[in-house]
Amino acid sequence: MATKKKAKKAPAKKTTAKKAVVKKAAAKKAAAKKNGSKKVVKLRPAKAAAKKPAPKKAAAKKANGNGSALPAPSKAPWGQAGKALDGVKILDFTHVQSGPTCTQLLAYMGADCIKIERPGGGDITRGQLRDVKGADSLYFTMLNGNKRSITIDSKNPKGMEILERLVKHCDVLVENFAPGAIDRMGLTWERVHQLNPRIIMASVKGFGPGPYEECKVYENIAQCAGGAASTTGFREGPPLVTGAQIGDSGTGLHLALGIVSALYQRNRTGRGQRVLCAMQDGVLNLARVKLRDQQRLAHGPLTEYSQYGEGIPFGKAVPRAGNDSGGGQPAWLLKCKGWETDPDSYIYFITQAPVWAEICDLIGKPEWKTDPDYATPPARLPRLRHIFDTIEQWTMTKTKFEVMDICNGFDIPVGPILSMKEIAEEQSLRATGTVVEVDHPTRGKYLTVGNPIKLSDSPCEVKRSPLLGEHTEEILTKVLGYSDAELAEIKTSGAITPPPEKPRAAAA
Ligand code: COA
Repeated sequence: MATKKKAKKAPAKKTTAKKAVVKKAAAKKAAAKKNGSKKVVKLRPAKAAAKKPAPKKAAAKKANGNGSALPAPSKAPWGQAGKALDGVKILDFTHVQSGPTCTQLLAYMGADCIKIERPGGGDITRGQLRDVKGADSLYFTMLNGNKRSITIDSKNPKGMEILERLVKHCDVLVENFAPGAIDRMGLTWERVHQLNPRIIMASVKGFGPGPYEECKVYENIAQCAGGAASTTGFREGPPLVTGAQIGDSGTGLHLALGIVSALYQRNRTGRGQRVLCAMQDGVLNLARVKLRDQQRLAHGPLTEYSQYGEGIPFGKAVPRAGNDSGGGQPAWLLKCKGWETDPDSYIYFITQAPVWAEICDLIGKPEWKTDPDYATPPARLPRLRHIFDTIEQWTMTKTKFEVMDICNGFDIPVGPILSMKEIAEEQSLRATGTVVEVDHPTRGKYLTVGNPIKLSDSPCEVKRSPLLGEHTEEILTKVLGYSDAELAEIKTSGAITPPPEKPRAAAA
């Protein structure tokens, strides 16, 4: 069947390719005419072009498909051909979590990330949730690895001069200030684009254009406004926010994709563009299955929700589904041995239809394989609560790791609830570089999350976060080319140092 389909499709593909070549040539001809060029562009059918072996360069151009030639494939051993984003310079004007997540990922990929911080305190997270007195917090250190830090007061004229020099030097400016703040500094998109038409200016905001666009937004506000909170938790309880930072880190991740896409387009167009990710949009993108369910509600109850089996009618909006699966295979969270004392002694159990027989045998209910009330997925739907209660009687006799081992032996998809302690100690995550220990001059060793995206030719080396202003002089002189005399002038201008403290009013 599949072969038949393939054979049928092949000629159509050829026609499309041929059409594309003809279209391209016609466009070339039109462009030549417009430019007044006398060079005649010959229209050549795809077949004729294929007959004559093209010179190497042209072949590379064609393979790339976007007009810019690719170099010959590197002969360097895998992992020794540099990093994916080598040469990309990021002006990182981000703070707190969403923006820093994005720029840290780009830095993990090899970009040179220059973090601008306010002289004195820097990114507010340096001092938030401090665990070691006098040292940068884990909040900051785990979001700002592989970056360089320069202090600049953007409200000081000399500071703005330095900033503008950085705009001219960099490929990407990333910011996540409150709406309007970057404009008030004078770095509007128009100004930035005028200074450097190639630069990509990327922003995280709480909301996109609309009634709430002027609002400041933090993580949980985005979770609430993006549809995640109303669909998380138990039906009988209030909406719930999740510990995974889908609003901040999730949006930072979206922004990183926007930036690399814009960099790729710039290869063709030569110009930068504006990239905007609203946290509400980012959360909704991650909660899209719930918008799917909202539309399904118009056609009847959501039969895979346990509420259906319990005979509880659905309202107008998607309800909270507790630990229901959210996909087509019913699932639930089940207690394991030791649950009375260990809050994480649970396993997530999916009753995937193809392994139903194996599940029945394992839990001691072989009769369910043929019982019409249990044998088929639709028959099971109204009985899910009873089914999971029965499976739980079995899982409670085993530890979560025993259940994991036994079930995976039969291809039954299950997953243990892992505590952060267990994750921090998990050796396989250390081995892959997903959890990394780094050393820091003031706080000592700490764990951070390395690059979760693994590239086979771009290895990631995770480096500690910078101290506040650690690279100020280095960036001013080596990157921006300020002379020693200019550096001395900058130092006295107030551009890189905190403003002098205002004298306190004398006590009455
Ligand atoms: N030099 C001088 N001033 C600086 C500066 C520097 N290097 N860096 C920042 N500032 C100033 C800004 O210009 C702004 O001043 P202004 O309001 O007087 O024009 C001020 O610092 C505060 O910026 P703001 O972004 O409003 O910070 P905030 O702490 O009040 O708000 C957020 C924090 C996160 C709520 C807000 O930045 C926001 O909504 N960001 C967009 C959404 C987002 O990313 N949220 C998630 C964060 S994890």
